[in-house]
Amino acid sequence: MCNLSIIEQLPKIIDDGQVEAERILKRSYVEAFTHKEKIIPECSYNYDWLNQFYQGDNLLAIEKLLKSDYRSKLDLIYIDPPFLTNAKYKAKIVVNDGENKYTLEQFAYSDVWKDGLLSYLQMLYIRLYLMRELLSARGSIYIHLDYRTVHYVKILMDQIFGEENFLNEIIWSYKSGGVSKRYYSRKHDTILVYTRGKDYIFNPQLEKSYNRGLKPYRFKGVKEYEDKLGWYTLVNLKDVWQIDMVGRTAKERVDYATQKPERLLERIILTSSDEDSIVADFFAGSGTTGIVAERLNRRWILADNGDLSGAIINKRLVKNRSLPFINYKFPDKAMSGGKLSVKNIEIVNDKKGIHALNIELDKYKIDISKINIKDKFKDKVKYILQKKPLALIDFIGIDTDYNGYIPVFNWQNYRNNGKPIIKSNIRIKDIDFKESRKIYIKYIDIFGNENFNIYQINNERVVLCQED
Ligand SMILES: C[S@@+](CC[C@H](N)C(=O)[O-])C[C@H]1O[C@@H](n2cnc3c(N)ncnc32)[C@H](O)[C@@H]1O
Repeated sequence: MCNLSIIEQLPKIIDDGQVEAERILKRSYVEAFTHKEKIIPECSYNYDWLNQFYQGDNLLAIEKLLKSDYRSKLDLIYIDPPFLTNAKYKAKIVVNDGENKYTLEQFAYSDVWKDGLLSYLQMLYIRLYLMRELLSARGSIYIHLDYRTVHYVKILMDQIFGEENFLNEIIWSYKSGGVSKRYYSRKHDTILVYTRGKDYIFNPQLEKSYNRGLKPYRFKGVKEYEDKLGWYTLVNLKDVWQIDMVGRTAKERVDYATQKPERLLERIILTSSDEDSIVADFFAGSGTTGIVAERLNRRWILADNGDLSGAIINKRLVKNRSLPFINYKFPDKAMSGGKLSVKNIEIVNDKKGIHALNIELDKYKIDISKINIKDKFKDKVKYILQKKPLALIDFIGIDTDYNGYIPVFNWQNYRNNGKPIIKSNIRIKDIDFKESRKIYIKYIDIFGNENFNIYQINNERVVLCQED
């Protein structure tokens, strides 16, 4: 155990981080994300670009990007890493088997660090160093932190990006959260903004500034407006942002503990990127950055290593009818779940000779020890597995024309409030039937475990074949 203060350890954090980052930059790349899936919630005519979601450690995703031609290509990186809260984040999952509702708790991600601040800063330094290499000459990076680490990360950032490229310290202030009688209520996060150089993208955004007394000033040449509150002018956005956290009943809420509001990302993306810019978030959580970037016609790259985050991001993008994206993952992740069996799967022809695929789902079986939940919930899960196992499936994607390489899911179904259990009788009409092709069914359970089945078409009969 080292007795040095964190200030005394900073030079070593920086030296070791630099050596490691340079080693990563120089080594030849070995592909880690060998399992790829293409998801098509909404068709696109832009075949030159596919948005990207990496399910795994962001260090590997950053390395892959650096070594596949993305060096100096990203205009904006926003990251919202863990805050050193010493908490293990959970998410509530409500399962409805058609008769009863069960509330389970699922692990989301851990913010506990073996050597506290030291290991936290070691983790971040190397990633920040490499992220700088991804930024374009016009690029900026926003690092979302709070009072626990921001002052230390500022020092690392000054060293990596240069003090002269420190643009702003944004205070995001909100009302939610607890209060204390022993200190002032902590109601803000801090976002550090650095640019890659002097020629950075900055599209000033406007905000309302209410007049004193909420009355009109009537100054010459100053445009004034009135709303329900009173008179105001429009001024360039200041560095203190009052934006509510995502409320319990908000439409955008996806029940991810540290989900950030879309409005916050909207400001950042509008200000520091242009249409068509590539915007990345390497600690993507529930995928807010991807959702907002796409709405604002930016291209996006996301990464997160949490199982739950992976499931939430995939589903959120599909629900959002997002443009096609590639989901990269490690092969063991793609096969981390239980097995979904089907009662019947067949190709049928209508009178005009048009093919349809009928699938009747049967059961979902999973080894309970594979599920990352507390023991107190395991009996409930066992019960649901016996009674209504399909209630544990959260998402299903089907490629009716699998080429044996990258599955392309242009049919998806998922659980939601109105439909607590996914469809068990699936009919996909008008499929392009080819004897030589396969059918790929991918499924994600409510705990974020994934798996797939592949079926071969044989003389118009469909048979389960060995997984690839
Ligand atoms: C504070 S949350 C991000 C929340 C996100 N901004 C949102 O709006 O939902 C931090 C995320 O970082 C992820 N994370 C932590 N370490 C990581 C790593 N090494 N690689 C990839 N993701 C990581 C966690 O799984 C978690 O989802």
